Amino acid sequence: MSAIAEIKIDGKTYEFPVIIGTEGEKAIDISKLRDLTGHITLDLGYKNTGSTKSAITFLDGELGVLKYRGYPIEQLAEKSSFLEVSYLLIYGVLPTQSELENFQSQISRHTLIHEDMKKFLDGYPSKSHPMAQVASLVCSLSTFYPESLNANSSKEETDLTMIKLLAKLPTIVSFIYKKSLGHPLIYPKNKFDYVTNFLHMIFGQRTEEIEIDPVVVGAMNTLLILHADHEQNCSASTVRMVGSSDCNLYASVSAGISALWGPLHGGANQAVIEMLELIKADGGDTEKWINKAKDKNDPFRMMGFGHRVYKNFDPRAKIIKKACDDILNKLGINDPVLEIAKKLEEAALNDPYFIDRKLYPNVDFYSGIIYRALGFPTDMFTVLFALGRLPGWIAQWKEMHENKEPIGRPRQVYVGNVDMDFVEMAKR
Ligand code: CMC
Repeated sequence: MSAIAEIKIDGKTYEFPVIIGTEGEKAIDISKLRDLTGHITLDLGYKNTGSTKSAITFLDGELGVLKYRGYPIEQLAEKSSFLEVSYLLIYGVLPTQSELENFQSQISRHTLIHEDMKKFLDGYPSKSHPMAQVASLVCSLSTFYPESLNANSSKEETDLTMIKLLAKLPTIVSFIYKKSLGHPLIYPKNKFDYVTNFLHMIFGQRTEEIEIDPVVVGAMNTLLILHADHEQNCSASTVRMVGSSDCNLYASVSAGISALWGPLHGGANQAVIEMLELIKADGGDTEKWINKAKDKNDPFRMMGFGHRVYKNFDPRAKIIKKACDDILNKLGINDPVLEIAKKLEEAALNDPYFIDRKLYPNVDFYSGIIYRALGFPTDMFTVLFALGRLPGWIAQWKEMHENKEPIGRPRQVYVGNVDMDFVEMAKR
């Protein structure tokens, strides 16, 4: 007998089914609430609202657990490749050797972008933020592939659109980066694996083929895997919401990229480094900045701290912190902001303000330090997050379509004026 939740309104009791997920998560199904009671729920920021039933990613914020399709993030980060994880997220199972080879070879076949897309790059102001360019260029892919406009096309066509997007995003990102430097664009080399090819296009030169350090490839692979999905966060929910109007994959993902850009979401990795630099330039007094973060009259927030869901620790942050130490050691880099980051973390973890509010370092606290060590400029950090999150967005879009979910359309409680009479301009 499944559980029932009761809601009592004006003396009348209504019953609603309780849904239990495979990991024991409990939800009250209120889909009939308005029909039965005339009421809606109000939940700003959707802090208690389940927007979907999903089989992609599970996370337990209290225990600090994160799993993709049931596989713990720690195992995936240690043992798998980014493309393997992409396949897992999108198709729900780990690929066999031949499935992975086929996936890789299909992606390799589509890494070029239409030459006309380079004209967009010429049009952007030289200092424009790369996230704006990525969002625009990804949306623009739909203009070159009009067959993708039908969000309900055949499985073969949809698979091809997903492959094209996975294949072309590294090329788009690297072209934006090279263009920002004023350097010649480097074209993809399909003999390389996904991550090596991306690094080749970012750090390579036209004149000679450079050696890509396996340490750098390994670090990039880990970071992309850690960012690959995170269930119904702001950008994934955006992708599902936009996609629910039957909007094509390119445009839906472009909307997700824009959602990710904000400093409270993926933009935090850039904001963290800027914050650490600011603290360093200010003399490195971490206590002063902790006090600023605690002061309600001061808009300063400790970037890279806190999470809507993780209230104990962010398992991705644990892996990244260790990776950060390893990579800096292996590359022989001594980054002074790392010391500031560690001091801030230690002080915050022992401070009642942060303890009471369960504020811990999140995935973005250390990722920027690694990206910097690998040679990326600060404004590219969120772009790298987007590159990692792409398979998650694709999987969320695909699942939403396969589940035939209705168009996303929340309600509201109206609190504005009532029954106003129009007043002519002369009388206002
Ligand atoms: N520094 C100082 N105080 C904070 C911080 C912070 N980083 N984060 C939350 N608080 C305080 C907040 O002021 C509030 O205090 P009070 O209860 O006294 O009013 C309390 O903690 C709860 O905060 P909230 O804003 O209600 O929490 P939220 O769940 O709405 O926001 C968050 C989560 C991630 C937006 C927020 O913690 C934050 O702004 N963090 C900094 C930005 C950041 O690092 N974002 C990256 C998130 S991880 C990457 C990703 O997946 O997007």
